[in-house]
Amino acid sequence: MPQIGTTLFCPFLISGTVLIVDSPLWCVKYRPDSWEKFVGQEQAISHLRSLATSSTYSNMIFLGPSGTGKTSAAFVFGREILGDTFATNFKHLNVRDLRYYSVAKSKRSLQALAKLDRQDRTELDEYMSAVFKSAKARLKAKGRTRGPNKSQLLQEAIRLFASTITVSDEFVKILVLDESDAMDMNMQQALRRTMEIYSDASRFIFITPSIAGWSPALISRSLVVRFPSPSVEVIESLVTRISKAEGVKIDEDAIAAIARESSGDMRRAINILQVAATGSAKVTEDGVYECSETQLVTEVRRLVTLACDGQFTKARKILRNLIAIEGHTPEGICLEIERDITRRPFDPATLSQILDRVATINHRMLQAKNPFIQLTALLASIGHVAASDAT
Ligand SMILES: Nc1ncnc2c1ncn2[C@@H]1O[C@H](COP(=O)(O)OP(=O)(O)O)[C@@H](O)[C@H]1O
Ligand SMILES: [Mg+2]
Repeated sequence: MPQIGTTLFCPFLISGTVLIVDSPLWCVKYRPDSWEKFVGQEQAISHLRSLATSSTYSNMIFLGPSGTGKTSAAFVFGREILGDTFATNFKHLNVRDLRYYSVAKSKRSLQALAKLDRQDRTELDEYMSAVFKSAKARLKAKGRTRGPNKSQLLQEAIRLFASTITVSDEFVKILVLDESDAMDMNMQQALRRTMEIYSDASRFIFITPSIAGWSPALISRSLVVRFPSPSVEVIESLVTRISKAEGVKIDEDAIAAIARESSGDMRRAINILQVAATGSAKVTEDGVYECSETQLVTEVRRLVTLACDGQFTKARKILRNLIAIEGHTPEGICLEIERDITRRPFDPATLSQILDRVATINHRMLQAKNPFIQLTALLASIGHVAASDAT
């Protein structure tokens, strides 16, 4: 299982204050580790089960929004296919983490990392150290003396695992590239070559909410498995199941409110339940609304209000903070701006004009090198359109 959020103290944000929950995250505790533990996603799971049984599977794209079980399914599939060789023949890499990984950090040797405390080094640090060494050696073999640049490092991160010899000839290796929507065109092209060279022994699983703008060559080499947004009933059944397992008392209305507020994201549904259940004897509908407001929602509301009032510089500053300090993804911010806009009382013509801008910027962000510039342009045009709405 991926080592995400397994800490014992989990900070949650409730209406602007951070609450420390002294227990493991429930969304990690209840991450499905077998097909039976998934709720919904019947089609995707029956497809994957039959592929695993027949052992004939190609590269795959797990396509669907956040919190629908894509990462969990990749791990269950990997375990089923690889059995005892899972630990050596399965690798999960997050493309966004790779893209933001600094070249300077990757220069640290494994010996230097070993001297750090366990909590100060991650699995990714260790992998990137090996990647840097390998990329440097490859460049040296070609007679180049300079160390690898960021793009060479990224390519090597994928090549290194694909190229290592499998432990047993019977098994292929599975490389999961999570958040693959963060791949740019260069990376996709390099990846296509890697996929061809190592196609005998390696299979790729791309996890992404969208394949818009993807190279047709990559799509045609992969089987698309869809993870659609679950229905309200499916989320309610998950919330009910976890409430029972944790002995949480919860109103029917509160269950329905969680399902609604989670917007189809099961991770979010579980997080809301956990925060609402902390420190209250019974989870009520009001309790759910108090906790479901995240910092991103609050900050984006401020941002859009400032943009509408023509206070562009202040809005841009909040945007910068959200990306550079709070670590929100530009795509996540764009989605939240879209949600916020639709809740505002614009007249229909203005609303459609702004939403059209959001859609254009969202599309451009996929192609652009710097999504911050695109979002800044969006803020400017929201201000412009809102001003003409007011007149
Ligand atoms: N289909 C599902 N059934 C049960 N739990 C789910 C399901 N999808 C998501 N979850 C919950 O949400 C968390 C995140 O799921 P994950 O597989 O990482 O989703 P994704 O990769 O689609 O964002 C899991 O740890 C699990 O608790
Ligand atoms: Mg995931």
